[in-house]
Amino acid sequence: MPKLAIAGGRPVRRKPFPAWPIYSNHEARALLQVLRSRNWGGYPFPNTHASAFAAKFAKAHGAKYGIALANGTVAIEVALRAAGIKPGDEVVVPAYTWEGTVGPILLLNAIPVFVDVDPDTYCLDAHLIERAITPKTRAILPVHLAMNFADLDEILRIARSRNIAVIEDCAHAHAGQWRGKGAGGSGDFGCFSFQSSKIITAGEGGAVITSSLEHFERAQSYVNCGRASITDQFRHRLIGFNYRMTEFQAAVLEVQLQRLPKQAKTRLANINYFEKRLRGTPGLAFLKRDKRITRLAAYQFVFKYLPEHFGGIPRVAFLAALETEGIPCDGLFYEPVYRSALFPVDPADFPALSWGRPAPLNLKTLYHCPVSERAAYKEAVWLPHHLFLGTQNDTDDIADAILKVCENINELRSLKHPAIERKAMSRAERPRVEKRQW
Ligand SMILES: Cc1ncc(COP(=O)(O)O)c(C=O)c1O
Repeated sequence: MPKLAIAGGRPVRRKPFPAWPIYSNHEARALLQVLRSRNWGGYPFPNTHASAFAAKFAKAHGAKYGIALANGTVAIEVALRAAGIKPGDEVVVPAYTWEGTVGPILLLNAIPVFVDVDPDTYCLDAHLIERAITPKTRAILPVHLAMNFADLDEILRIARSRNIAVIEDCAHAHAGQWRGKGAGGSGDFGCFSFQSSKIITAGEGGAVITSSLEHFERAQSYVNCGRASITDQFRHRLIGFNYRMTEFQAAVLEVQLQRLPKQAKTRLANINYFEKRLRGTPGLAFLKRDKRITRLAAYQFVFKYLPEHFGGIPRVAFLAALETEGIPCDGLFYEPVYRSALFPVDPADFPALSWGRPAPLNLKTLYHCPVSERAAYKEAVWLPHHLFLGTQNDTDDIADAILKVCENINELRSLKHPAIERKAMSRAERPRVEKRQW
């Protein structure tokens, strides 16, 4: 009799995990209040809820100023603009991240320089940054993910000695702290996303935080169609866009921000318990927890599946088996951006890739980042945060299912199953399937 659900056995879990996003009457009341006020948009800028939320959010992360805006991708664009990144400038960025970290660099006709990630944290490997720096480097853009931080001590040391900006992509790090300082509060800018899956969300949304008034003013003008910022001490005049957040989003985010500490506590207690249950399991490995991280932000729990230990049975089969046991999970959550089908970069669209060179830079073939490639295609397993918002029994189900798959892994050998095919699908193809499932 097969044991694994994917081979015909009984699944560990038949009921769903806590649904995400979570809301209550508080969100409903806040939305209704905005509706009735007829003051819905981002203009006048910054509007009532947007400025209240941005100020609270910035303070919670140890920064002086905050701007609420349309989403996390434009948050990065705004930070790059406000940092003064110009066409042809180079920006150091980890290879293993969401494509939205990199797109804004190209949009400014600047050049992303990919650097591999640290195998212990999956964040930008600070030891590899210096060799990627050239006289054109103007910014380092670390991404804090997998409950980790890129090594900010080292990154700030490198950047400060060369007058290079540090823009922290904190889309996974809300309320996390490095040496007691909030995510995004150590660099020149912190950029956040409030897209649906994030640990506080309004469906879409983003924020930029900074402690520099000059940066704040530039960023405000850029977000608000080039209009003078509210303080206007530096009298920047620039071409801007409308990246404002609506009052509906901001009102929801104010409520979500209040709920965050309690949820973070629950997640962390469950994650600690989960790690305790699985630590030492042959063939699985956990990322490092750096002592300098004084508060963990749990957006996705990431661990390693080591296929060599399981006789080469690929991660895709492990993931499909786990999902069939009732545990939502992902492997190809990110891939090295330069190899991604979501990164069809054509030098004709980005002239700086050709400037001063006999042939344009081919960002798709120039790089080989072995740690990012191994994480993306072989070993990383991503579990969404809402799985850990339930009870200890829910967490036991996750751990039991993982152990069950590991113990019965041989049932996966040469198994063919649509769940495996689905998991093997490229990220560019996935939306078709996901849409159908909904
Ligand atoms: C690491 C990272 N950076 C940037 C973004 C962009 O955020 P948004 O989807 O709000 O544009 C995301 C969002 O998924 C992200 O995960």
